[in-house]
Amino acid sequence: MDNVTIRDASEIDIPLILGLLYDLGRPKPQKDHDVDTFRKLITNYLTDSDKKILVSVFDDMKIVGMVSMMFLPRLNRDTLEMYIPELVVLEKYQKQGIGKKLINSCIAIAKEKKCHRVRLESGNQRTESHQFYKHLGFEQSAFSFTLNLD
Ligand SMILES: CC(C)(COP(=O)(O)OP(=O)(O)OC[C@H]1O[C@@H](n2cnc3c(N)ncnc32)[C@H](O)[C@@H]1OP(=O)(O)O)[C@@H](O)C(=O)NCCC(=O)NCCS
Repeated sequence: MDNVTIRDASEIDIPLILGLLYDLGRPKPQKDHDVDTFRKLITNYLTDSDKKILVSVFDDMKIVGMVSMMFLPRLNRDTLEMYIPELVVLEKYQKQGIGKKLINSCIAIAKEKKCHRVRLESGNQRTESHQFYKHLGFEQSAFSFTLNLD
């Protein structure tokens, strides 16, 4: 998709990033102050050198996707691991190569930063996404275990 560009997210993108996260099934604000809290969390993310958010922009205007990443030290490696907590493309824009552009941008950044690997988790129910990741060369390398404390 030539009319889609990838750029670093900035504060001005926060409302659209929040919308994309809701599309991904992340919690919606329950109380008035929740929106402020979410905004602050994203602002902190944007200013933290160990984290990064990219957005995909359609026709230089509309944000149609985003990916977040974190750079994690591991105890037994002298290079960082890139972890991708969130990746989402607006439904209407899916299957047009935008998710791939976002992941390829992450991989390019991981290589620039000499990361030793890129890792992510994907819910059991997201079978389509699993195929997407495998198609892009990711291997299913682990089980993920969660203990919810909410
Ligand atoms: C998963 C997601 C990010 C993929 O983005 P996308 O823009 O739809 O995917 P793309 O069009 O870039 O696909 C890239 C390649 O993967 C392939 N692919 C995508 N979905 C596939 C599937 N279900 N099975 C097989 N291949 C698939 C495409 O055919 C394409 O192949 P090509 O490069 O050879 O042409 C997007 O569908 C999405 O946001 N889904 C909902 C949220 C979600 O599940 N996010 C991931 C959370 S872990």
